[in-house]
Amino acid sequence: MSRTIAPAKGKLGILMPGMGAVATTFMAGIEAVKKGLGEPVGSLTQLGTIRLGKRTDNRTPYIRDFVPLATPKQLVFGGWDIFEDNAYEAAAHARVLQPELLSKVKPALSKIKPMKAVFDKNYVKRIDGPNVKTHKTLAAKAEALMEDMKTFQKTNGADRLVMIWCGSTESFHKAAPVHQTLAAFEKGLAKNDADIAPSQIYAYAALKMGVPFANGAPNLTHDIPALLDLARDREVPVCGKDFKTGQTFMKTLLAPGLKARMLGCKGWYSTNILGNRDGEVLDDPGSFKTKEETKLSVLDQILQPNLYPQLYKDLYHTVRINYYPPRGDEKEGWDNIDIFGWLGYPMQIKIDFLCRDSILAAPLVLDLVLFLDLAQRAGMKGIQEWLSFYFKAPMTAPGLYPEHDVFIQLMKLKNTLRHMKGEDLITHLGLEYYD
Ligand SMILES: NC(=O)c1ccc[n+]([C@@H]2O[C@H](COP(=O)([O-])OP(=O)(O)OC[C@H]3O[C@@H](n4cnc5c(N)ncnc54)[C@H](O)[C@@H]3O)[C@@H](O)[C@H]2O)c1
Repeated sequence: MSRTIAPAKGKLGILMPGMGAVATTFMAGIEAVKKGLGEPVGSLTQLGTIRLGKRTDNRTPYIRDFVPLATPKQLVFGGWDIFEDNAYEAAAHARVLQPELLSKVKPALSKIKPMKAVFDKNYVKRIDGPNVKTHKTLAAKAEALMEDMKTFQKTNGADRLVMIWCGSTESFHKAAPVHQTLAAFEKGLAKNDADIAPSQIYAYAALKMGVPFANGAPNLTHDIPALLDLARDREVPVCGKDFKTGQTFMKTLLAPGLKARMLGCKGWYSTNILGNRDGEVLDDPGSFKTKEETKLSVLDQILQPNLYPQLYKDLYHTVRINYYPPRGDEKEGWDNIDIFGWLGYPMQIKIDFLCRDSILAAPLVLDLVLFLDLAQRAGMKGIQEWLSFYFKAPMTAPGLYPEHDVFIQLMKLKNTLRHMKGEDLITHLGLEYYD
């Protein structure tokens, strides 16, 4: 039985708290795609296909033709930032895209002016800016965000909205009593509880308005009972957290392969140099701790040392991020992996990934907003585990461990799409071809 999915008519408004490198590379990229100036490389929704039925059926439509997704032409953008730069100026400052390309999309980007942010320097220590809301309570700030969303929707004639956090990584903090129930959270908003982070206020505002929410950073944002309850009550799909782009993406490609062949691993040393504003924010130990938690969890979950103690019990895993301004967004990530094989004989693997952070992240933003919008039109609510494919630290129901293996994640994603449309799930059993 297929789900009823409402059509993707009208405009889809994409709202981004944080109009920095990732957000502006995404927006500029979509404007460039709309004009035929480039291809949306890295985007599964735009370039990916899905096999339906048997291998002999020859049914492999594009995903975008199989499920009713909004098209890039239907997207309109808005956002909030503590800096006053419009999207063109912010993109120029981020120095990810070439000035020649940016100049061709300047008219569209210059019109996107950041709304005043909800900001608290205690959560992001290395930056400060003038474009912030000054209401006395967090509750009033949340109301103001909801007003911003209504104004944006009206001005842009958007049929539906999706919000995706592309703001700086906030300082590490654990769920507190104020995060446990919606009533406690709303009381906390009224009393300016210091345990409520700005990103949580954006997420609250989105969910109250029935707007799907994704978190591209590792912060504890909507991964708390109060906001997950709100998402279910309002029947809103959500997902997170922390885009899986560079080094962690490589890890989730390689580690399942090592485990599949029962090769052991003694140590995995990962280090990065990175010189963009994200790198500057992550130079603060509080923000780095948030990132470190999500980056470290991946290997343990994939390699399962509890099931394979001979291979992975004593694995030494370290992750470093070093702020190095000359490189800007063009990060370099090194991995040294000490593996061992037959009879314990040691071997080494070295990876040197000269990547571009925001070039890798932009297509994930596109896929996430389109899939979240699809999920909402299909009546799906709460955590969307099938979107784990995009995250370093996929959100799951309490008590469930996250799935990190990128190939299992992809299978889960595609099977969810098949399920939505009432197609047979693909198990890869394949015995029927030999009967
Ligand atoms: N690029 C990647 O590959 C990648 C991968 C995983 C996660 N991320 C995360 O995505 C986020 C964005 O990355 P980026 O490279 O664009 O960083 P960036 O520093 O260029 O942009 C972040 C923007 O958020 C703004 N901001 C901070 N707090 C805010 C608030 N409360 N409200 C509104 N705006 C706020 C900052 O002023 C800045 O302009 C970061 O948290 C980063 O860790 C990026």
